[in-house]
Amino acid sequence: HPSNVQMEESSILGRTNCRAKGGAPGFKVAILGAAGGIGQPLAMLMKMNPLVSVLHLYDVVNAPGVTADISHMDTGAVVRGFLGQPQLESALAGMDLVIIPAGVPRKPGMTRDDLFNINAGIVKTLCEGIAKCCPNAIVNLISNPVNSTVPIAAEVFKKAGTYDPKRLLGVTMLDVVRANTFVAEVLGLDPREVDVPVVGGHSGVTILPLLSQVKPPCSFTPEETEYLTKRIQDGGTEVVQAKAGAGSATLSMAYAAVKFADTCLRGLRGDAGIVECAFVASQVTELPFFASKVRLGRTGAEEVYQLGPMNEYERVGLEKAKNELAESIQKGISFIKK
Ligand code: NAI
Repeated sequence: HPSNVQMEESSILGRTNCRAKGGAPGFKVAILGAAGGIGQPLAMLMKMNPLVSVLHLYDVVNAPGVTADISHMDTGAVVRGFLGQPQLESALAGMDLVIIPAGVPRKPGMTRDDLFNINAGIVKTLCEGIAKCCPNAIVNLISNPVNSTVPIAAEVFKKAGTYDPKRLLGVTMLDVVRANTFVAEVLGLDPREVDVPVVGGHSGVTILPLLSQVKPPCSFTPEETEYLTKRIQDGGTEVVQAKAGAGSATLSMAYAAVKFADTCLRGLRGDAGIVECAFVASQVTELPFFASKVRLGRTGAEEVYQLGPMNEYERVGLEKAKNELAESIQKGISFIKK
């Protein structure tokens, strides 16, 4: 099949080679929704990641073309393409990490919740495949609304008997990436030197930057706090409006997804002290899921950190975030239970 650009064992002009079997050290990674606005640059960046030995690109359209294109890059990972539902199981077999940017993005005037009806079904189908074919893989879920799709994925895995909360991570990295950038702009620093914890969820007021915990230590005026919090919460909408109907953040999202996937892979490899924010099963608040800093290790999110000291502005924000999150989580759970 043309989508399988590299065969398990290839023979070129009579010379047999088995490299495509994935013999090189590294992890096997699948991207589901790989032909999309996020999926394509994400696939390109993952092909450049030295921790990846095999890269599976799955989509319901255009997977063969994206695969042929990416496969010409002279980096280590072997790339294989998979097109459409009948090839989902082959795409997933044996994967260590599955990244999911499949689904429809927002248009101007839409909230992430408006995407629920379409994306919920897509995430359900893909997670059923994961439960069957690579139940031990780490899952990085990008499809919106993340506040609901992560609970959906958890319910699918529970039904299948494969649920391990440590392995299911909603990707909120773009909120952290934006927060680092916007805070660095205000402080006049290099964004690489700035670390802003962003907790809660991934939508509107559920995105809660903890500006009192920024590293390096600094302080903000009430006006700066208000400006930064709003800009971080509305960062996605800023891009949706600028793209004027052509979708939402894709390039910065692909960057953020790769930054997050790389931390997961370094955790899997056994590196110490790998900490990043993600939306996970949590006991940090009374809600069953919450984004906060997590420590990534060989088995996924091995430790979920408490929120730490917050100021009054953040405590008020936390209450608002929890109210909206509670509904979004329940909506996800009900989608599977009903
Ligand atoms: P897009 O429409 O450009 O790409 C989505 C891809 O998913 C398409 O190639 C489509 O064919 C594919 N797809 C649809 N149904 C599928 C299925 N059943 N199986 C596999 N693939 C399927 O959208 P874009 O811009 O790449 O966004 C993707 C998702 O990521 C959206 O839900 C968007 O809201 C979300 N997103 C999440 C962010 C986050 O921070 N977590 C940030 C930005 C976007």
